Amino acid sequence: MKLGFATIPTRMSALASPKVIAWSGVIAHYRERLDIAHHVAPVTLLEGNTPLIPAPRLADALGGGFELFLKYEGLNPTGSFKDRGMTTAITQAVADGARAVICASTGNTAASAAAYAARAGLTCVVLVPEGKIAAGKLAGALSYGAQVIAINGNFDDGLRMVREASRCAPIVLVNNINPARLQGQKTAAFEICDVLGSAPDWLCLPVGNAGNITAYWMGFSEYHRDGLIAQRPRLLGAQAAGAAPIVHGRVFDKPETLATAIRIGNPVRWQEALAALRESNGYITDVTDDEILNWHRLVARLEGVFVEPACAASLAAIAKGRREGWFDPRGQRVVCVMTGHGLKDPDTAMRSFAAPITIEPRLEALLEAVKL
Ligand code: F0G
Repeated sequence: MKLGFATIPTRMSALASPKVIAWSGVIAHYRERLDIAHHVAPVTLLEGNTPLIPAPRLADALGGGFELFLKYEGLNPTGSFKDRGMTTAITQAVADGARAVICASTGNTAASAAAYAARAGLTCVVLVPEGKIAAGKLAGALSYGAQVIAINGNFDDGLRMVREASRCAPIVLVNNINPARLQGQKTAAFEICDVLGSAPDWLCLPVGNAGNITAYWMGFSEYHRDGLIAQRPRLLGAQAAGAAPIVHGRVFDKPETLATAIRIGNPVRWQEALAALRESNGYITDVTDDEILNWHRLVARLEGVFVEPACAASLAAIAKGRREGWFDPRGQRVVCVMTGHGLKDPDTAMRSFAAPITIEPRLEALLEAVKL
């Protein structure tokens, strides 16, 4: 058999019907809906178009009687939903003539900014909380060539610093205060509606700096305004108990949670999140680290979807709401956003389990070990 490129049809027309539809990233796909500069070529890694995975076994574990889907954002190019907002933020930065970008991050924004900056040939500086960033995120940011600076402080300290830096130095801020970020992130709401043919009844997601909940609401609201969906979903936000400023209505000076992605005490998009929750007749609640770990394990075991701990907060919130009686999804369609990939944070995943047993390389030892 002849192998090599020559055997691969090089033109679409060589196929009777194309089996794979080419995807060109969220800017190309939703171009007319995105309020960013369009006179430069998009800086893209072909992000977006992530799967909406039915999760019936997990729905049963959450009390059953409803339809559950997981929007698996961990399958974006750098492993988190941040890529949606980074393609737009970096494209806008290039259009504005930027040479360098900066952000504070609990990890995913850093990796994403670094990747898109690399692609655009921009310098990238990221500030991360010392010792509180998951290994996969740090490895990503370093690999993509960002200057990674650890600070003796938390995300909120870092954000204050980069906001000030971007005001007094020629460096563009790409945290979600930057409106171009939300333009890209709202495309996840479009995709969910495009796939389902309507909005879900509920959208559940972890909330940290509150950019994502704001962007989703913007996306659903725009589709609703334009008559593409009859109604918008209700929102269920989840924060970690040790970092729950919106739930309690006060800044957390020392936020703490093993879900380091959402270890944030003073979210920038706080007011927008409150407005979205109010308009959607939604809820925001907090869940403990133990609850997060439990659902982090279950989503992988029941559905084969490996996510980072923060994602499990949304599942824990559903469980809590049902237990306490204020959340009743029966007969409804619920989408939970799995914002980041499990491989981002292998250490937390490994800590939940006993180390693998080691056996001698003999069949008897194997049969003994598996106890079939
Ligand atoms: N889930 C993951 C995996 C995240 O990385 C983040 C935020 C969130 C949820 C919360 O989203 O901030 O828009 O409310 N990560 C930011 C970062 C803060 O720096 O990577 P949000």
